[in-house]
Amino acid sequence: RLAVVRTLKALDRALAPFRDKGESVALVPTMGALHAGHLALVRHARRKADRVVVSIFVNPTQFAPTEDFSSYPRRLAADVDALAGENVDLVWAPDAAVMYPDGFATRIAPEGPALAGLEDKFRPHFFGGVATVVAKLFGQVRPDVAVFGQKDYQQLKVVTRLAADLDLRVAVVGMPTVREKDGLALSSRNQYLSAEERARAPALHRVLAGCAEKIAAGRPIKGVMESARKALTRDGFAVDYVEARHAETLAPVKSRKDGPIRLLVAAKLGTTRLIDNLAV
Ligand code: PAJ
Repeated sequence: RLAVVRTLKALDRALAPFRDKGESVALVPTMGALHAGHLALVRHARRKADRVVVSIFVNPTQFAPTEDFSSYPRRLAADVDALAGENVDLVWAPDAAVMYPDGFATRIAPEGPALAGLEDKFRPHFFGGVATVVAKLFGQVRPDVAVFGQKDYQQLKVVTRLAADLDLRVAVVGMPTVREKDGLALSSRNQYLSAEERARAPALHRVLAGCAEKIAAGRPIKGVMESARKALTRDGFAVDYVEARHAETLAPVKSRKDGPIRLLVAAKLGTTRLIDNLAV
């Protein structure tokens, strides 16, 4: 049976036999409500290390008071069943009092990609919360490898910098976005969509794919991205941003000569905020 541990003491006890045998450990951090995107990360972790640990923790510090922390889907039992089927070695599922005990007083303030605009402009609390909890997860599990999804592209860049800048000795790996057949990126938040919104949601990916084609064909980026914003608005999205950025630094780009380009979008359908991104 797949072990689920909820205290640091139990975590240490579960990891010790792996360490004693000199086995490598891969960590897949998640907030649960697992879908095929998460499981793709788990399968990659399985190939990368002797042991696979999946963390499930809905991290309060990366949600603003107005966001969906309390309604975020929580279904540990189903998640554990899914992970048991993937040959995972350990589930690390601390509760908030274990992660943030009384007296907790340290917060990491990521810069660089975390201050590039995009998510940061609309969720200023977000990357500080992510960086702090990911640093803690790395400290708790001390993985050799950690697997993240490109679905959260800016987050992947922030975590990669975090590991390098704080000498955390963990190889951060990014995996491609897993999508529905109609192109919609899998997300735990997709279940918030009404049937009508769900039918419109694939426009997010479709519009980005159209932009990528036009930019690759040499059309001026500014005009392409402006028409993308208009197309999404026409489709009923409230667009936070739809932008072309340098794929590594996330700096704004004016032309294809500025380097490899990543297109990133965040938009709301009704009350549900969706994000996606695509390489040019
Ligand atoms: P969560 O949204 O649960 O995502 C966990 C991991 O799964 C992230 O690395 C995310 O990029 C990846 N993921 C989500 N949807 C995916 C998809 N369709 N294809 C591929 N990978 C996908 O991201 C978080 O949790 C949190 O911010 C966390 C890093 C756990 C810190 O709290």
